[in-house]
Amino acid sequence: MLVDVPLAALAGLPRAESAPASGRTFYLETFGCQMNVHDSEKVAGVLLARGYRPTTDPERADLVLYNTCSIREKAAQKVFTHLGKFKKAPEQNRSVAVLGCVAEQEGERIFDRAPWVSLVCGSASYRRLPELLDRLEAGERRVTGLGLDVDETFETDVTRRDHPFRAYVTIIEGCDKHCTFCVVPSTRGPERSRASGPILAEVARLAAAGYTEVQFLGQTVDSWRDPGPPGLRFSQLLLAAAQVPGIRRVRFTTSHPRDFGPDIVRAIEDCPAICEHVHLPVQSGSTRVLERMRRRYTREEYLETISLIRSARRPISLTTDIIVGFPGETEDDFALTLDLLERAGYDGVFAFKYSPRPNTPALEWSDQVPEPEKSRRLALLLERQRQIQIERNRKMIGQTLEVLVDGRHEARGQWTGRTSSNRVVNFTSPATDLLGQYTQVAISQAGPNSLVGEHTL
Ligand code: SAH
Ligand code: F3S
Repeated sequence: MLVDVPLAALAGLPRAESAPASGRTFYLETFGCQMNVHDSEKVAGVLLARGYRPTTDPERADLVLYNTCSIREKAAQKVFTHLGKFKKAPEQNRSVAVLGCVAEQEGERIFDRAPWVSLVCGSASYRRLPELLDRLEAGERRVTGLGLDVDETFETDVTRRDHPFRAYVTIIEGCDKHCTFCVVPSTRGPERSRASGPILAEVARLAAAGYTEVQFLGQTVDSWRDPGPPGLRFSQLLLAAAQVPGIRRVRFTTSHPRDFGPDIVRAIEDCPAICEHVHLPVQSGSTRVLERMRRRYTREEYLETISLIRSARRPISLTTDIIVGFPGETEDDFALTLDLLERAGYDGVFAFKYSPRPNTPALEWSDQVPEPEKSRRLALLLERQRQIQIERNRKMIGQTLEVLVDGRHEARGQWTGRTSSNRVVNFTSPATDLLGQYTQVAISQAGPNSLVGEHTL
């Protein structure tokens, strides 16, 4: 993601003349999940308020920042490839910063590997950014914000959002589940929920600023518990956000199957503004593998949860994450995962080959699955899922769906947007400006990953 700030977004920020970094520019690139994308919006807000100006050219920026992901090895490696381009930064009086999960995971070792980097900061330390930037600007060469000893969430009133009508809102940070393959608990720290008061106040501010869709974010978003009075449940928070005047859609991701209850399905059934989509990572269809992954549910329990979702009065779209080739995964275990695909009828699947990660128990296990076998399983799974999605999306042909329009393909003469179920719809329309509008689109064609339709006035 390139931070490209519309001028309107700068209104109301402190005047550059009075800010410490007046005239300096920054380039910020983000890897990984929506949490990282939203963290970058917060970091960009802090930099803008300090007088930095954004640039899309990393070669010319005074401060280059990479907000990094370490969920799989490839993602982490990519960062070092990018960093390699900035060896001369110190002699050019430019600074390079590594933020996010690789920063937290590798810590000061990043300075050994890339000595031209001068700031390393994990997400749990972003609240200290102003102080860390002071030190960086004063010429300090190895500034760090590391450690996970936090009991609060990072909130800022200067967040600079990338999107004009859809906004991310963090409601819970970190994770306490400690799945045996996952780096998140060691890179993002313990689970901590924000109180409902500040969350709903943020939603109200967003609505007043013209946002109509909010997306609640958390690694395990449905584990959210109101830390103080009024002690809302997660489903009650969804309902409360949906009632904020001006808010037309409330999304949430990612749900953990263990914490997903019938009250969430009831909230979706009862309240049209809560989006009819649940992302519920299963990881594997085999209870034996799930136990070794420490996922805290069985295949049967997961199937019960999805039958609850599937039997809702409102059709709810269901997506998932799957890992193939987890240590010890046999052909029979994998067959159970393929079988689960059929039973669940997912509307979308993010599938990954298991990647051994530092500071996780599964890294040490001796029964690793060979790489070619992981690739074979991944290809089989993706092909099966592609067919399932084609079949499911075809059922949408002939329906008229509400789409929040978020883009335009000039060359194809098409608008693009998303349904409440999070399907991508590309469509034609005689209208000239639809960005940010909710339009009714008649669906005429369906592919595995998107729908095509027409909007008639
Ligand atoms: N909080 C989410 C997942 C966060 S990571 C949850 O509760 O499931 C996003 C996805 O990356 C995971 O769902 C998992 O499918 C995948 N993933 C995490 N660690 C991985 C690893 N070591 N190798 C391969 N995929 C991994
Ligand atoms: Fe990772 Fe498991 Fe938490 S996948 S984010 S440790 S629920």
